[in-house]
Amino acid sequence: MRSELLHDFAPRLIAWHQHHGRNTLPWQVTDDAYRIWLSEIMLQQTRVETVMVYYLRFLERFPDIATLADAPEEAVMAQWAGLGYYSRARHLHAAARQIVATQSGNFPTTFDTILQLPGIGRTTAAAIAAFAYGLPGAILDGNVKRVLTRVFAIDGWPGEKLVEHRLWNLAEALLPDAGGIRAYTQGLMDLGATLCTRARPRCPVCPFGDACLAMKQGRQGELPQARPKRILPKRSTAMLILLHDAEILLEKRPAPGIWGGLWSFPEFPADADPAHAAATLGFNADEIRKQPALLHTFTHFQLHIQPWLLPVKRTLIAAEPERIWLPLVDSEGAALPSPVKQIIRALSNVA
Ligand code: ADE
Repeated sequence: MRSELLHDFAPRLIAWHQHHGRNTLPWQVTDDAYRIWLSEIMLQQTRVETVMVYYLRFLERFPDIATLADAPEEAVMAQWAGLGYYSRARHLHAAARQIVATQSGNFPTTFDTILQLPGIGRTTAAAIAAFAYGLPGAILDGNVKRVLTRVFAIDGWPGEKLVEHRLWNLAEALLPDAGGIRAYTQGLMDLGATLCTRARPRCPVCPFGDACLAMKQGRQGELPQARPKRILPKRSTAMLILLHDAEILLEKRPAPGIWGGLWSFPEFPADADPAHAAATLGFNADEIRKQPALLHTFTHFQLHIQPWLLPVKRTLIAAEPERIWLPLVDSEGAALPSPVKQIIRALSNVA
């Protein structure tokens, strides 16, 4: 049964995609490798519905690789603000500059050369090579791991090296041998995103319904198996919200590092005296007020953020190059980390 399914997998998926998959998204009706590359980077960890607006706006501002390479990093980050995972934007920008510097602005045309660009892993390189050039190559993102662990009832956490290795081998073995790599690759992604979802998969309408081993064994809810539990370490910080006339003082965060290249409030250690932190920047802290704290979860730790609000008279501090006074009304469109935006939204009551 399993070997029969190995042969049958690609034709079933391609047939399903032709009738039920997504075929008309903006990055599916172009063969411009730049546009396909941008979509694949934005779609990493982000849903199609969210990506759409960012994608179209980004292309209006940076219609080709040369324009992107020429732009200052700040302009690129501002277009990315709100999409998250900001290293994607920094890598995209660095890759555009690399392509202009070494390939006369022409996007690479093979899997191996695409894979060498900053920010591009095996799955993204294969997806771009498939969509832009029709080249066959296996993909294995989170959605695909879910589909394969279920259809072939593969135990173990897919992030674990041995399990992942097995899944890559399987993904290679399943590739269509008679063309159709575009429909196959998109179909695999779409099946995972729309039918074979984490919670409540729609098995009755799945093209593998009668052959899926997880379905046969009633194990759809168990597969893929979860990562062994790990408690995230906690860190804490305090932020100083210096407010003058509906403007706030922000500092540019150094890159690399958390929120590198984004603008954030001046920070000080959570156990330090906020009045002292304000004094260091040249402000009197008589009217300082504690604000509601936030907990922000990163991949490897949780950050407890304690904001302190201090209405101030604006001073020369704004003249420093890595500091700006930002009008609160401009904050939604600015390159700010999401907890900083949350703090600012909560402020609109007091400003
Ligand atoms: N995730 C990554 N690439 C994607 C694509 N082309 N379509 C849908 N989801 C994706």
